[in-house]
Amino acid sequence: MNQMTPPPKIEIIPSSAPFSEAQRSWLNGFFAGLLSDAPAPLSAEQGAAVLQGPEGDDGEAPWHDQTLPIAERMKLAEGRAMRRRMMAAMAQQDCGQCGYNCNDYSDAIASKLEPRLNLCVPGGKETARMLKALHEELEKAPPAASGTAAAPVAAAPAITAEPGRSRDNPAPATFVSRRLLNKAGSEKETWHIDFDLSGCGLDYVVGDSFGIFAKNDLGHVDQVIALLGASHATPVRGKTLREVLHEDVSLAPAPDSLFELFSFISGGAQREKARALAQGEDPDGDAATLDVMATLQKFSGVRPHPEAFVEALEPLQPRLYSISSSHNATPGKLSLTVDCVRYVIGKRKRLGLASIFLAERIEPGDQVKIYVQKAHGFALPQDPNVPIIMIGPGTGIAPFRAFLLDRKATGAPGKNWLFFGHQRSGYDFFYSDELNAMKTSGLLTRMSLAWSRDGDKKFYVQDRMREVGRELWTWLAEGANIYICGDAKRMAKDVERALVDIVAQFGARTTDEAVLYVGELKKKGRFQQDVY
Ligand SMILES: Cc1cc2nc3c(=O)[nH]c(=O)nc-3n(C[C@H](O)[C@H](O)[C@H](O)COP(=O)(O)OP(=O)(O)OC[C@H]3O[C@@H](n4cnc5c(N)ncnc54)[C@H](O)[C@@H]3O)c2cc1C
Ligand SMILES: NC(=O)c1ccc[n+]([C@@H]2O[C@H](COP(=O)([O-])OP(=O)(O)OC[C@H]3O[C@@H](n4cnc5c(N)ncnc54)[C@H](OP(=O)(O)O)[C@@H]3O)[C@@H](O)[C@H]2O)c1
Repeated sequence: MNQMTPPPKIEIIPSSAPFSEAQRSWLNGFFAGLLSDAPAPLSAEQGAAVLQGPEGDDGEAPWHDQTLPIAERMKLAEGRAMRRRMMAAMAQQDCGQCGYNCNDYSDAIASKLEPRLNLCVPGGKETARMLKALHEELEKAPPAASGTAAAPVAAAPAITAEPGRSRDNPAPATFVSRRLLNKAGSEKETWHIDFDLSGCGLDYVVGDSFGIFAKNDLGHVDQVIALLGASHATPVRGKTLREVLHEDVSLAPAPDSLFELFSFISGGAQREKARALAQGEDPDGDAATLDVMATLQKFSGVRPHPEAFVEALEPLQPRLYSISSSHNATPGKLSLTVDCVRYVIGKRKRLGLASIFLAERIEPGDQVKIYVQKAHGFALPQDPNVPIIMIGPGTGIAPFRAFLLDRKATGAPGKNWLFFGHQRSGYDFFYSDELNAMKTSGLLTRMSLAWSRDGDKKFYVQDRMREVGRELWTWLAEGANIYICGDAKRMAKDVERALVDIVAQFGARTTDEAVLYVGELKKKGRFQQDVY
């Protein structure tokens, strides 16, 4: 992941491209800058800037709150060390998509071991923009007194020689099959996806996630090429333009670098708009809808050279999915539970890259580039006797199906309580046959269901939890672990609030004491979350 060799001098813009020498030189510099992945070691001054500000135990710092907007998190982190401000700029989910946890990713950037500022998927463009600004601040750090402390050594993500163990060294897995989990008439489209790992020899433990490198839809790629007015076969980076757009670069949110490119090669009002967009402004109120294709349409009179165009795009990032199977139960097999992302903006249908790739673009027998992302702090208890409470509405069921299959395979005697919910009982009860059979066999000690759209009023898993709060408290008091999986932005927070209320009411505590109790559960690893 962290390549330490400086890149060669890059002449990206060919001399035949329709630019003046000055423009060519500027563009070469611009793209060389974008590609300059070579991390230089921190100077003593920069090390001081990284460390500047109060350190100490800030594990409870309020800017860790993933539900706060970035501006508020940055304000709360003001005056902190640079690496802490960088962490505040991230979406704070510890989702692992960047290959690190948030703390280690920010440490790695702040200590200049990681040059890529665009890896935070949930943070998106606003995180990348803020990291760029902070990075520039770091570069300009004033000289400090001699003898300043060295930069902190960031924990690099696990890069092993074994293929399939990190996003930087994927392995091939074979796609086996897919099966729709919703019944006809559902508003949702969620697929059970099966992979065969026997070819690559990978294993995993329940709680781990699976990284998928999806490819862009070829129909979409062809539309982009048509808008670009280029030939499919134009050679770019040793491939054809079509291949590069299919396999290597993201066609989703247009990056600032693309707007910068447009600002340079256009003039007048268009140039002003492109420049404003590159600075995170929204001159026409459509910035959030501008993927790469919409940007080409917006600047329809301006056509960059395919090579410059490709260099202005972001690399295609892998997507993570919670593994919904157990290697102990079915060695060599792996399954996922994937919700399709489809929505419409204007007249155009937009499709999620990886979810739709898995739902309709791969065929049984196809090889897909994948890796296993080890879970950090999301696992079954080591003691198989410990009871577990699992709260996973929607696709949040995925790791809990895996937990249950694993406990069955290993004969773990601990009690298991599942809270599942979704929109409608008649259409969205994923794995109902399996779960009912587990209930009948006694593996699933309790199953509590919540259907949000069956009645007139929304009814969520946390409403069900409150109804059975006394029993839930008894399980906690007996030493149960509690787990949440699914939506990070609203569900996880609301469920945690319900948990605090239950602890206060049935554990005879004030709200403050209940908050402390839940905090302690987290510290002891008895309350774990896998949210996205
Ligand atoms: C640790 C982890 C585990 C995960 N486990 C699962 C899992 O088990 N199952 C699962 O389904 N997902 C899971 N995810 C989420 C998954 O990684 C992907 O983010 C998700 O499938 C969408 O990816 P995509 O490539 O299909 O969509 P993308 O191409 O990434 O598009 C998604 C983006 O589209 C935009 N968007 C989506 N809907 C709308 C809308 N209505 N209006 C406007 N814009 C919109 C948003 O910007 C959104 O971020 C997990 C994520 C993490 C980090
Ligand atoms: N960013 C968002 O706004 C948003 C919203 C939903 C889902 N997602 C993402 O969509 C993907 C897949 O979603 P999914 O299939 O897991 O299902 P989901 O769309 O998250 O919904 C699962 C169930 O949770 C309910 N729910 C909604 N808000 C809730 C809350 N605050 N507390 C508890 N339950 C709540 C839903 O009810 P209702 O839908 O009937 O309210 C539904 O019954 C995930 O990546 C998820 O993070 C994002």
